[in-house]
Amino acid sequence: MALAEFVQQLDQLVVEADQAFSAATGQEALEAARIEFLGAKAGRLKAVQKQLATVPVADKPAAGKRLNEVKAAIEAAFETATARLENTSDEVRDETFDPTLPGPAWSLGKVHPITQTILLLKDIMGRLGFTPVEGPEIEDSWHNFDALNVPAIHPARDPLDNFYLAHAQWWGAQSGDQGHGSADMLRSQTSTVQIRTMQQQPPPLRIISLGRVYRPDTADETHYPMFHQMEGLMVDRGVTMADLKTVLRLFATAYLGNSVPVRFRPSFFPFTEPSVEVDYYWNGRWVEFGGAGMVDPNVFQAVGYDPDEVTGFAFGLGVERLCMIRHGIRDIRDLYTNDVRFLAQF
Ligand code: PHE
Repeated sequence: MALAEFVQQLDQLVVEADQAFSAATGQEALEAARIEFLGAKAGRLKAVQKQLATVPVADKPAAGKRLNEVKAAIEAAFETATARLENTSDEVRDETFDPTLPGPAWSLGKVHPITQTILLLKDIMGRLGFTPVEGPEIEDSWHNFDALNVPAIHPARDPLDNFYLAHAQWWGAQSGDQGHGSADMLRSQTSTVQIRTMQQQPPPLRIISLGRVYRPDTADETHYPMFHQMEGLMVDRGVTMADLKTVLRLFATAYLGNSVPVRFRPSFFPFTEPSVEVDYYWNGRWVEFGGAGMVDPNVFQAVGYDPDEVTGFAFGLGVERLCMIRHGIRDIRDLYTNDVRFLAQF
């Protein structure tokens, strides 16, 4: 075979191989084309290479050089096609996808402002050494009243002021069995948890209990039939009213910022003696936050503590009021109408 004819066959092969590789749309087609042109046994390049033997001896160096160049060119075309297929997946590609665009915005929920307040109160009181404890919202009247020294005939037990369950006997009903297991009512105060904790643990105690309480009040700006209280109880030898005032002042200072004056006004609760109303001075006026006092010896007796050995203070503060005053919320109902536009502000 003349050199010119040999070279012409090689050049033809490069063009055809390049076209075949470029046209391949998947791995299988590319592999078939590779075998057709570069196959070691029956490939078309191999077939042309075999013709080299028939080229005149004088032309062999030139023919061999050309053969090597063509082989390199076809292999390069194959590599290019391989790289192209690796960059595209076999699936149809979405040509409009721009990976540099920010993704769609996720709308995250928020922790309810009351829950936020509860977490913060637990944190502050935790630093003062008070451990959070919990009690049931469905209570028996022994824990809600009897053990708290509320007489059987006492206006606080009035069904107009409490959510009794249908079967419960309320008037003059002292359960006497320490209330075990009887579900009488939705608790009207978290003071029930004082009793439950003291029944389970010997003194000394430093606990808080944050949770829901229920009273059949008509909802208005400052009332809601369900609200939250933070109950505190500290029992030890020699606990005094001064400790109570100090804890409440330190708490208010941590929660409301800067030093917040505390005022005690004489009051009455069956389970504390003496009893006080707790006011904080906030934004130029005195605001009532709850009740407090020294634990009545009768309460200690009800739970098996010795009133000659220990003394203690207790307080109950309104969580909604604490939350509202901090955030400037004026209507308690806003907290419970579940308007996300309102709740998302906190
Ligand atoms: N339990 C009382 C209330 O709900 C508050 C209180 C708690 C008062 C502890 C004294 C001691 O009004």
